[in-house]
Amino acid sequence: MQDQRVIVTGAAGFIGSHTAGALLDRGATVLGLDNLDPFYDAAIKRRNLDALRARERGASFEHRDCDIRDASRVRAAFEAFRPNTVIHLAARAGVRPSIEDPAGYALTNVIGTQHILDAAEAVGCKRIVCASSSSVYGNNPKTPFAETDRVDEPISPYAATKKSCELIAHAHHRLTGASVAMLRFFTVFGPAQRPDLAISLFLSKIGAGEPIRVFGDGSTSRDYTYVDDIVAGVLAACERIDEHGYRVWNLGGDHPITLSELIDTVSAVVGRAPVIDRRPMQPGDVDRTWADLTRSRAELAYNPKTAVREGIERQLQWMRQHA
Ligand SMILES: NC(=O)c1ccc[n+]([C@@H]2O[C@H](COP(=O)([O-])OP(=O)(O)OC[C@H]3O[C@@H](n4cnc5c(N)ncnc54)[C@H](O)[C@@H]3O)[C@@H](O)[C@H]2O)c1
Repeated sequence: MQDQRVIVTGAAGFIGSHTAGALLDRGATVLGLDNLDPFYDAAIKRRNLDALRARERGASFEHRDCDIRDASRVRAAFEAFRPNTVIHLAARAGVRPSIEDPAGYALTNVIGTQHILDAAEAVGCKRIVCASSSSVYGNNPKTPFAETDRVDEPISPYAATKKSCELIAHAHHRLTGASVAMLRFFTVFGPAQRPDLAISLFLSKIGAGEPIRVFGDGSTSRDYTYVDDIVAGVLAACERIDEHGYRVWNLGGDHPITLSELIDTVSAVVGRAPVIDRRPMQPGDVDRTWADLTRSRAELAYNPKTAVREGIERQLQWMRQHA
């Protein structure tokens, strides 16, 4: 990675800051693009950026305040930095809030992604790795979910934007010859996890003895994936995408658990019983996710290592250190 100049969009966020940190550890020169979107507290994002600056050592990290909805600012950043790889993680994340603001999600996730692709083309950057999502599988009746399954029936605006990104990225590959990896992340957790996500919420609320809102009867299931495993998959995709041209890969944990099992695990880690405030299932939420990793194991040597309980213990330890 030492000769690599990498733009990481969303570098101030959860997965972006872990990814940028791993690149710095490998000696890459990294430019982070992020507008510190107010979806959650910008102080958390500033702290993530400070941690990256502290991690620079011999490598180089710079952050540029850049809104990916602004094509000219994106283009200027690419022209100034001249990346040979782009890892595009910036997005409006979250299924439920996308139902409140579908146009806003489309603008950032789809048009913003097109701006990234256009800027990459303008500076001759031919290696692009983008975050997609397990949500593109919708309520796929078949498990585990394979990259070859149909993904034409998203059930939330967020999922529809991620599927749209896969389509525009494919067109970009065909028209420009750039190599493009679309990575379908399955519910990611670990230190610095987004505060709106279940594990983060449950750890803080159960720890404080506050009730947790639980949607549905607890039988929905998710294939939780530890962030270091995701980062390993992202870096492997950077290294191998040139062999493939355009490729979709699942990055999951391959150990789905039910919501009830998740709550039991978080409670055991925290050492406190949960107080449950049960609510009806939310529109947009899928019943289950489970990644078929056959392709990513074979082509990326992707091999998730961190079990859910171990990862939750590390996340709690991190939360206590950063309280
Ligand atoms: N966390 C998960 O479980 C998960 C699962 C599937 C896919 N993903 C995808 O992975 C990526 C990273 O997710 P995350 O969980 O780290 O989320 P995050 O919200 O922590 O990070 C996203 C970053 O994008 C930035 N951003 C938002 N709008 C922007 C804009 N207009 N211009 C520039 N920057 C902008 C935000 O400020 C934020 O720092 C996203 O594309 C998300 O859709 C995440």
